[in-house]
Amino acid sequence: MVKKVITRQELIKKYLEFFKKQGHKEIPSSSLVPANDPTVLFTTAGMHPLVPFLLGQPHPLGKRLVDIQKCIRTGDIDEVGDSFHHTFFEMMGNWSLGDYFKKEAIAWSYEFATKILGLKKEKLAVTIFAGNSNSPKDTESEKLWLELGIPKEKISFLESNWWEHPSNNTPCGPCTEMFYWKPNNLKVPKKFNPEDNNWVEIWNDVLMGFTKIGSKYIPAKQKNIDNGRGLERVLAVLNGFEDNYLTDVWHPIIKEIENLSGKKYNGNEKTMRIIADHIKASVMIIADGITPSNTERGYVLRRLIRRAIRYASLLGIKENFTHKLIEPIIEIYSDYKELKKNKNNIIAELDKEENKFRATLEQGLREFDKIKKDKKELSGKEAFLLYQSYGFPIEMTEELAKENKIKLNQKEFYEENKKHQELSRTSSSGQFKSGLADNSEATTRLHTAAHLLNQALREILEDKTIAQKGSNINPERLRFDFNFPRKLTEEELRKVEDWINNKIKQKISVVREEMPLKKALESGAHGEFGAKYPEIVSVYSISNISREICTGPHVKNTSELGKFKITKEESSSAGVRRIKAVLN
Ligand code: SER
Repeated sequence: MVKKVITRQELIKKYLEFFKKQGHKEIPSSSLVPANDPTVLFTTAGMHPLVPFLLGQPHPLGKRLVDIQKCIRTGDIDEVGDSFHHTFFEMMGNWSLGDYFKKEAIAWSYEFATKILGLKKEKLAVTIFAGNSNSPKDTESEKLWLELGIPKEKISFLESNWWEHPSNNTPCGPCTEMFYWKPNNLKVPKKFNPEDNNWVEIWNDVLMGFTKIGSKYIPAKQKNIDNGRGLERVLAVLNGFEDNYLTDVWHPIIKEIENLSGKKYNGNEKTMRIIADHIKASVMIIADGITPSNTERGYVLRRLIRRAIRYASLLGIKENFTHKLIEPIIEIYSDYKELKKNKNNIIAELDKEENKFRATLEQGLREFDKIKKDKKELSGKEAFLLYQSYGFPIEMTEELAKENKIKLNQKEFYEENKKHQELSRTSSSGQFKSGLADNSEATTRLHTAAHLLNQALREILEDKTIAQKGSNINPERLRFDFNFPRKLTEEELRKVEDWINNKIKQKISVVREEMPLKKALESGAHGEFGAKYPEIVSVYSISNISREICTGPHVKNTSELGKFKITKEESSSAGVRRIKAVLN
């Protein structure tokens, strides 16, 4: 079935070699759970782990970086099933942190595509930013592409060629994308039409010249390059496949689904792609420490596993099967050591979820059939019953309703759900409520105050084991969770406030240093309980009173903070207290 022209490993090797030759240092993929960028649910692009460095913090490895970053995009889950959308994918990125800009970025993009990968020049086309009220038309990029030999008729100007991060105070800018003519048996049209799906986007050069602040875009202090390529698409194009699932990052999984179902891929493409995609993404998410649940990331994971099970059952797979797909996935991605290391846990979590859902799936489907009979609309209450009693994620019920051409009263479902406070519906686009809401000055001040609070609690409550269990900071207030067995007294709360206000009055400098994680821990720096840290970390110290592993941002001096006031102290969960506080 597969004619192997080039494998994932070979592509990665060529890619890293080329950019290393241009002075880039390789950085490892960060976790799918963003450590440096807690404003998103999952790492959806290579830039998330790099936001502090794109905003000007020096990176320990310098100004030119290259990486293969694991990504999850949940916005496209419903698109999965076609030949080129994936929930989990790898982004091949090269980065300039205030170093080279458009000229080199575009030239290397072109050289890598044509000389190193051997993509045909006549099959390439590009899009360029058309300009809007924030930023002018990018004629500089046009000039560069023309000089490299891309003809005028293969260049299209689009206003949508702009890339930004969902949260505030983040780098952004116009982008220029490369497209490749996919069909093997159709002549390349003379004129490029980006709307034609036969042209597949393979590359995105983001020319980060701006910072988004609120609804404004201001010229950035540091100009960066964020150049990302979807590995799966490039691999397919290189192999001359019009279907990504024929490449070696999918084929062994599809083959196992063929074995399990006794059916062929041809004729069952959509179903098999969905199963392969969702289980691959689930394996990757579990390996990064998430388990199925009804909230946030755990809910996305649950939704993926359950949808895969429903599709597998359409293929006639009625027994637990997910563990059978783990082996090929681990083999394809043997370079991600966390997969092998967590193999038993991945098997156990998938099995547990499968057992749970299989117990109710058939019954739930029967219930759905009963409800839908003679009805044109599924009420919110009925959808909620499917959710609560049979474990059908609302998105699955939506899909079933769509397949059966009946309407679903979503509004009523959410009202019902709210009444029961059951499910927190989340997406990857900025609804995640943990960590910093943005990098604004107000949030930054509260972030430093949270470090002081962490230490104040240890001092006032005379308990050295107190550690941060979670935090959530927005420009209005901070929320800080920590381990402690009982409610704090009014007097203790006042003492904590006084301790912090006293440190603010003392005008103490906040100092940032970079060091290996081991050294940071040895030096007594505190980390968040359960957090994953890279090998080199930054440590923020407030004189000798607070020392924490943290990516920032923070104020330069405690005098910038104003007056600290606790507004609430309550229980968060068993053994964990929660404090909310403001700065006036
Ligand atoms: N940030 C851009 C993207 O995700 C390029 O890496 O497409």
